[in-house]
Parts: sequence; structure tokens; C-alpha cells
Amino acid sequence: MVGMGVLIIGGGGREHALAIGLSQSDSVASVHSSPGNAGTSMVGTNHEVSSTDIGGLVDLAVKLDVGLVVVGPEAPLVEGLAERLRDASIPCFGPHSGGAKLEGSKLHAKRVMKSLGIPTGDFIVVENPREVEPSLDAFEPPWVVKRDILAGGKGVTVTSMRGVAEGALRKSLESDGFVLLEEHLSGEEASVLIMMDESGYIILPASQDHKRVGDGDIGPNTGGMGAYAPAPVVTPAVMRRVTEEIVEPMHHHLRSEDTPYRGCLYVGLMIDHNGSPSVVEFNVRLGDPEAQVTIPLIASDLGLTLLAAAEGLLAETEVEFHNLKAATVVLASEGYPNTPATGRPISGWDARIEEGQVSAFVHLSGAITGEDGELLSNGGRVLSATGIAPTLEEAVESSYQIIDGIELDGSHYRSDIGYRALSR
Ligand code: AMP
Ligand code: GLY
Repeated sequence: MVGMGVLIIGGGGREHALAIGLSQSDSVASVHSSPGNAGTSMVGTNHEVSSTDIGGLVDLAVKLDVGLVVVGPEAPLVEGLAERLRDASIPCFGPHSGGAKLEGSKLHAKRVMKSLGIPTGDFIVVENPREVEPSLDAFEPPWVVKRDILAGGKGVTVTSMRGVAEGALRKSLESDGFVLLEEHLSGEEASVLIMMDESGYIILPASQDHKRVGDGDIGPNTGGMGAYAPAPVVTPAVMRRVTEEIVEPMHHHLRSEDTPYRGCLYVGLMIDHNGSPSVVEFNVRLGDPEAQVTIPLIASDLGLTLLAAAEGLLAETEVEFHNLKAATVVLASEGYPNTPATGRPISGWDARIEEGQVSAFVHLSGAITGEDGELLSNGGRVLSATGIAPTLEEAVESSYQIIDGIELDGSHYRSDIGYRALSR
């Protein structure tokens, strides 16, 4: 087969992982990224169109004559990039804007789940300041206050302090006109990424993110400070329930829509102590950093799988996985997640480990190449060190071996990635 050109939209560690996976695919002849980062430029060609410039991205895909566009972040999907590409007859891995509403509107996602009987916490919509007090009375603490906006996990307040919950409700009411108050779900979180189209779906190995900034899950929420896969909390029995109670009804619902959902459905799960899964959230894309530990576990041709999903042919595709474990540790800038410092030089990031079945290397995220060719920090999450190995212990250890050798002034990382799995 003559390889195709692929354009990846986005510029984080997830997109670097996609670029590596696609560049290793026999089906892919050239990898383009827009805007990309220093990592994607090492395995392909970067372009300067921003991931929010929908018209510019369609023009770029047409100009490059690519056979596939893979969309990393949610924003361009919510804005309708997928349908614009389909109008231009370019296959797109990533759903149309109607499908992307599952992430774009928490209220929409909750209504879909409730209508399909998918397990998720109860919720109420607060629309009036007079409803604030009775609403707080209606739920037990801790309270979960969720704005109905795209906020990368930052639109959520989880608190046992009534005053804080009340403040969050009133502030959101003022800015947005309504806000969700959700039942608090307890247990262990996990992420399940599913490649889906109208013909079928492929469930990728479950992973676990570490959302809080500090060791022991302390401090503010972040985009994710590290991940590992497969996550043992998702036992075969839990996965069977996830498939039956969540994936099957969602697939049935999405395949019966007028326009098919073609891309990744990310199910954010809470698994309680009985092994019962509930949905915390849906995303309409691969997770970051979940992608960094999931994509390297795919042994078969990634380009063919993503193209099959984009063309509605997933049911005809076989995906194979390595029998290995993966871990990734995120290195964040000083001040992340609130006010990350940028523009600082990074050294030691190009180290690699290749020892038998153990490998470790860096996925770059908020990192750009400076004028003198040096690597500079350019965002909150700068890079993540990823280890792949026969055991999770070795995967984690090799990630830390790489990250310990990296220097970036003021940077920080969690030292306990994988602790839940390792202490089982
Ligand atoms: P979201 O923006 O919906 O992804 O929420 C961000 C994070 O807030 C989740 O990963 C959870 O850690 C926490 N969270 C959100 N909703 C709930 C809930 N109903 N119960 C417990 N934790 C939640
Ligand atoms: N790591 C969480 C997310 O990608 O939403």
C-alpha cells in the first residue's frame, strides 16, 4: 500500500504520542502537525495554523492533500472541524460538533446518560439564586459544583465546605446563568478510551491519570500529572460491566444518530468499592497524558485503525496490543497549574533507555525549539517521561530514571505515579 499523509491537530504530549505512533505505521508516509511542538517536529513537519482556526486547518489539510486528519484536542471538534473536513472529503478521526457536545456540555452528557440508563451520579440544574440553599440541602457533602463550559477539568469545584460550594454556585450562576450540582461519587477513577464509529468499537487498555498536582492526590486539579496503563482497578469483571452498562448503550445511541460518531470516546469512570462503575464525564478525544501510555501499547498499524474509524470501517479492523505496561510522569513548569513560568531552557530530555523489553523516552508537550536550537519550556505541562516494560514497576522506574536526569529551573513532578496499582 502506498502510505498516506496524516495531519495531526494540536500541540501537546498526546499529539507527540500520536505523531510517534503514526510515523511508525506502514500505512503512513508523512506526518504533519499543526501547530505541533518540538516533539512532533522531530517525527514530521510542523505547520503554523492554530488548533482553533477551523477554516485555516481545512485549507491546510486540502493543501497538504492528506488522507487523514487526527484531531487531538476537543475545542476544534466542538467548533465543527470534523464536518468541515468531511465536506472537503477528508477523513477525520474525531466526531462532528453534535457528537462533541458530549464533552462541550456537561448538562447534555448527563441528559444523554440519564435517558439511556447509564450509571452516573444524580444532578440538578441550579438556575436561580433562590435555589442555591435548598439545592445544597438536597445533596450530602462533599458537593460537586460543575460549570457547563469547556474548562479542561477546571470548571469543577469539589468541596466539603458549604460556604465554598455556595460561593462556586453563586459565581457560576452570575457568569453562566445556570450551573450543575452533582452527587459526589467516591471510589477510584480510571479512564477508558474507546475508538468508535457506527460499525463497531475497540476498547483500548484502561489507564489511570493523576489529576491533583501533588503527591498523595493533594492540591489543585491539573490537566493530569502522570498516568499508567493498563490500570488493574479495571479488572476483567469491571470491564465487562463498563462494556455492557456504558459502552454498548453509548455505541447504540451514537450509531443511530443522523451523522455517525467517528473518533475516540473517553469515558472517565469512578469505580466504587464493589467494583460498580459510574461515569464521571465523557470526553470526545484521547486523554493527555493517557494517550502517552495507551498509544505505545498498540502493536498494530495505528494509521490503519484511525483511518478505519474515520471512514466508518472499524468493524473490519483488527487491533493488536503489546503485552507490556506503560507509565508516564509529567514534568510541569514552576507555578503550574496557576501561573506557569515559561521560556526556560530544558536539558537532559533527549536521554533514552533501550534494554531488552524495557524502553523509556520523553514525550514533549509545552516545549519549543529556541533560536539557537535549544529546547525551551512553553507551557504548564512541559514534557512527560514514558516507560514501557513487562511490569508496571519497571515502567515506573524507567520513567523516573529519565525524569530525574532532566533539568528545568523551578519544575516539579509527582513522585508517586502508579502508587495505587503498585500498592495493590
Ligand atoms: P470533570 O471536569 O468532569 O472531568 O471533573 C474533573 C475532576 O473532578 C474529575 O476527574 C474528578 O476527580 C472530579 N469530579 C468531577 N465530578 C465528580 C463527581 N460527581 N464526584 C466526584 N468527583 C468528581
Ligand atoms: N487527562 C485528562 C484528560 O485528558 O481529560
